[in-house]
Amino acid sequence: MSKALEGVKILDFTHVQSGPTCTQLLAWFGADVIKVERPGAGDATRAQLQDVPDVDSLYFTMLNHNKRSITLDSKTAKGKDVLWRLVKECDVLVENFAPGALARMGLTWEKIHEANPRMILASVKGFGPGRYEDCKVYENVAQCAGGSASTTGFRDGIPMVTGAQIGDSGTGLHLALGIVTALFHRTVTGLGQKVDCAMQDSVLNLCRVKLRDQQRLDHGPLTEYSQFGEGIPFGDSTPRAGNDSGGGQPGRILKCKGWEHDPNAYLYFITQAAVWAPICDIIGEPDWKTDPGYATPKARLPHLNEIFTRIEAWTMKHDKFEAMDILNAYDIPCGPILSMKEIAADESLRKTGTIVEVEHPTRGTYLTVGNPIKLSASPSEVTRSPLLGEHTDEILRSVLKYTDAEVDEIANSGAVGRIEKIAAE
Ligand SMILES: CC(C)(COP(=O)(O)OP(=O)(O)OC[C@H]1O[C@@H](n2cnc3c(N)ncnc32)[C@H](O)[C@@H]1OP(=O)(O)O)[C@@H](O)C(=O)NCCC(=O)NCCS
Repeated sequence: MSKALEGVKILDFTHVQSGPTCTQLLAWFGADVIKVERPGAGDATRAQLQDVPDVDSLYFTMLNHNKRSITLDSKTAKGKDVLWRLVKECDVLVENFAPGALARMGLTWEKIHEANPRMILASVKGFGPGRYEDCKVYENVAQCAGGSASTTGFRDGIPMVTGAQIGDSGTGLHLALGIVTALFHRTVTGLGQKVDCAMQDSVLNLCRVKLRDQQRLDHGPLTEYSQFGEGIPFGDSTPRAGNDSGGGQPGRILKCKGWEHDPNAYLYFITQAAVWAPICDIIGEPDWKTDPGYATPKARLPHLNEIFTRIEAWTMKHDKFEAMDILNAYDIPCGPILSMKEIAADESLRKTGTIVEVEHPTRGTYLTVGNPIKLSASPSEVTRSPLLGEHTDEILRSVLKYTDAEVDEIANSGAVGRIEKIAAE
């Protein structure tokens, strides 16, 4: 079976998380991703949060599967030559350096487009054009500037960041879509184009329901927010709503049996209007089906605290999995709060390849998240991340077609660091 992006060559000039998540996705779909790293050090994440001394960190291995690594000092003359050869050879250049860094290496869009008119240049920056365009940005900065932090947490607490890496991985996803869209457009125009994704914009895109609520505030209180039922007035911007549902069907995180000692013995419970009757029966409040104070979604809004307290009295009698089984039999939308330990052991996720075990030469076996996007005719196989410079020799010879003498010359110049000969034999 062929891979969807087979034949597409990616010059992967990314580091840390946002860019690598994008190129990892493209690699899973079959693109040949050539990761360019600084000799000796490589992507800074190789050495960050290391759990095993002198072994590539899980931070790195889990973001760089299915790629090849070439080491190249892009600031030396020979290194620049090799880089330009890669530009001419590849279809897409993906980068997420600080603003201006790529141009300082001499890689401006004009020069790239002139050297290879079919090349797509895809960039992640923290901010788009405007007052912060020159700023360096990491995940949590994007969560704060993109509207996520101001709308996450409890109304009476400080803004919170979320565990989901919506700034980094979220932007990587957006960029990957931009790249495949540009590749599709190229089939019509024959030309590459620039694809820019700002982390602030990507976070905002994922927070669009909160901008929705900002505008709804002009027309009255947000009645599905708990604070409405609590009689607490709204200010002039979308407030933090704790664990209230972001949509029109009120929901909450409720305690389940064992919550006193298990930090994840909780269930997300949605009081979907369509299943109100079975909810009332299950929690032992059959009269609420017809009582005008509870029978309609609108009537229930001022009583959400009372309703969820009553539902919680029921969930606390069951563990989260038992509660799921009982509620699912009535199509009541709910979900257990799963710990990472539970997710790591989840059989269904392992069966679908969303959780996979990977073998690594210096680390041994580790768990990772495989491709969450399943294509029926282009299945993804997760292979380990490359060691630093593992494919330098192979790429110089088989992709860039340098002769033996030229490879020696490049190696002697110091532009590629120490060449591992593994792949050439
Ligand atoms: C993430 C970020 C804050 C990291 O900053 P940083 O560690 O200081 O790294 P920079 O991107 O500034 O790059 C550092 C330097 O390394 C150089 N460099 C990188 N790879 C190189 C190579 N192979 N050879 C030689 N030099 C190299 C760059 O040219 C740059 O040099 P310069 O500043 O002298 O021009 C920054 O890259 C950034 O803001 N990126 C855009 C937003 C983003 O993606 N953030 C999320 C990261 S998960």
